[in-house]
Amino acid sequence: MNENTRPKTLTAATTRAWDAFVIVVGMLRGGTGKTTSAWFIALYYAVVLRLPTLLVDADATSQSAYDWYTAAQAKGSEIPEHLVIERHPFDDIAEYIREKRAQYGAIVVDAGSGGGIGGSRIFYETVAEANLLLVPVDPTKIERRKLMATFDEAERAAACNKRDVTAHILLVKADDHDSLPRNAKAKLLAPAEGEGIGPDHDEPFPLAETVIHSRVHYRKAFGEIPTELSEYVELMEELTA
Ligand SMILES: Nc1ncnc2c1ncn2[C@@H]1O[C@H](COP(=O)(O)OP(=O)(O)OP(=O)(O)O)[C@@H](O)[C@H]1O
Ligand SMILES: [Mg+2]
Repeated sequence: MNENTRPKTLTAATTRAWDAFVIVVGMLRGGTGKTTSAWFIALYYAVVLRLPTLLVDADATSQSAYDWYTAAQAKGSEIPEHLVIERHPFDDIAEYIREKRAQYGAIVVDAGSGGGIGGSRIFYETVAEANLLLVPVDPTKIERRKLMATFDEAERAAACNKRDVTAHILLVKADDHDSLPRNAKAKLLAPAEGEGIGPDHDEPFPLAETVIHSRVHYRKAFGEIPTELSEYVELMEELTA
């Protein structure tokens, strides 16, 4: 099956209309683990739950989720049958997601870091259409101002969202051998005044309990179709229970 026939075949095989659960992975900072998280979550829906799943690369600055796909294809890796990967780094992304909802059980969007022309608009538009926003954060590099900016923008977008969108910070690249993940958790859950979320920036950040560890497995995942998904399975089971 080639790239062009895959979505059509999936659609044809789907007799009932879906209303996709939309997961947006975004954080207004580069290199935090968005693309890796988006891929693992998409594999969870497509391979573990066997739902028709669309992974959308909406990152206006780097096309790495889509590049991952083309690298996997170039290696001859088999793309899971329920997974479709597309790129759409344009500011009509909300309309694009709305059009795709009926064709998929899950839509995972790599919203990028808000960089490039239209980048922050893309973040806003995707959150306005999301059921779940995940904000991956590396505990060694917590930049509170970027986190606050991300949540401020997410709250503005959520005000236009007709669904009950929830947002969570996801600690990624955590190392159990040092105290950083523990310290990061403590600071996010009990922020000093002016360093949290909400109108007065004094409320705790919503933090997923599941932590994604720093593993070579993730670092080497680009261009592969990983089968070891356990931490992301645990995460999605926690957040969608
Ligand atoms: N849990 C993890 N353990 C170890 N390395 C990781 C983990 N998650 C991501 N990485 C590595 O961190 C780097 C950045 O990850 P990724 O490309 O997913 O981030 P990103 O937020 O999409 O970056 P960008 O903003 O540039 O698009 C990559 O080299 C990736 O392999
Ligand atoms: Mg990326």
